[in-house]
Amino acid sequence: MSRTPLIAGNWKMHGTIEEAEERVAAVLPRIATLESVEHGVCVPFTALQAVVDSTRGSALKVFAQNMHYAPDGAFTGEISAPMLTELDVHGVLLGHSERRTLFGETDKALQLKVPAALDAGLEVILCVGETEDERENGDTERRLRHQVQEDLEKVPTERLGEITIAYEPIWAIGTGKVATAEQAQDALAFVRALVADRSKEQAERTRILYGGSMKPDNAAELLALPDCDGGLIGGASLDVEQIVAIIEAAARS
Ligand code: 13P
Repeated sequence: MSRTPLIAGNWKMHGTIEEAEERVAAVLPRIATLESVEHGVCVPFTALQAVVDSTRGSALKVFAQNMHYAPDGAFTGEISAPMLTELDVHGVLLGHSERRTLFGETDKALQLKVPAALDAGLEVILCVGETEDERENGDTERRLRHQVQEDLEKVPTERLGEITIAYEPIWAIGTGKVATAEQAQDALAFVRALVADRSKEQAERTRILYGGSMKPDNAAELLALPDCDGGLIGGASLDVEQIVAIIEAAARS
């Protein structure tokens, strides 16, 4: 089965509404003729509505960066799936390592968030990945197994293929360090095998992205890996030239 690559920019906590609108307005005409790749942006909550409105009718997929699992309730500071769908947001990024390490995101919560997002009609990008210590101690596969199994436990098997999983080695995020092609392929293939443990058919549909210092100069090599279906891009997604170059590399892959 051929999977259309997805290049998703994760803007994290960067930028004003005006900067967000300017960035997408600069990128979209440059990639309009590229058919064999999808582009998404994970936008701060404050700019979601503006980016949705200013890109309506384009192929851009707009994602939030987090979501609560409950539809509503006494959860000060949180945003629910119905609140995101009311904005016409396309999907949501869940379980980013910064949410896990800095804000106490747990696999137990993700187990509720992932199906809640799917049920609301949101496309999910679920992030998994190991720390540097876990890699050095030979614990990469144990960590990935735990995250994938736990976070997807309540997703019906027949819907597994709808989930995009981003493999992001935490030691490669924002550090300029990048996994070697072999390290990346081993981990991406392992994640697909974990989905295949539940359904081989769904595992063939599941998109698996690489994230962690993907840049124009290493994108082609990473995107050519057999199990790499795109990238989740942090720093380089804030720069129009760099993200366009990565999207072009994905269209050629
Ligand atoms: P960098 O591309 O800046 O390493 O960030 C990766 C990331 O965290 C994307 O979600």
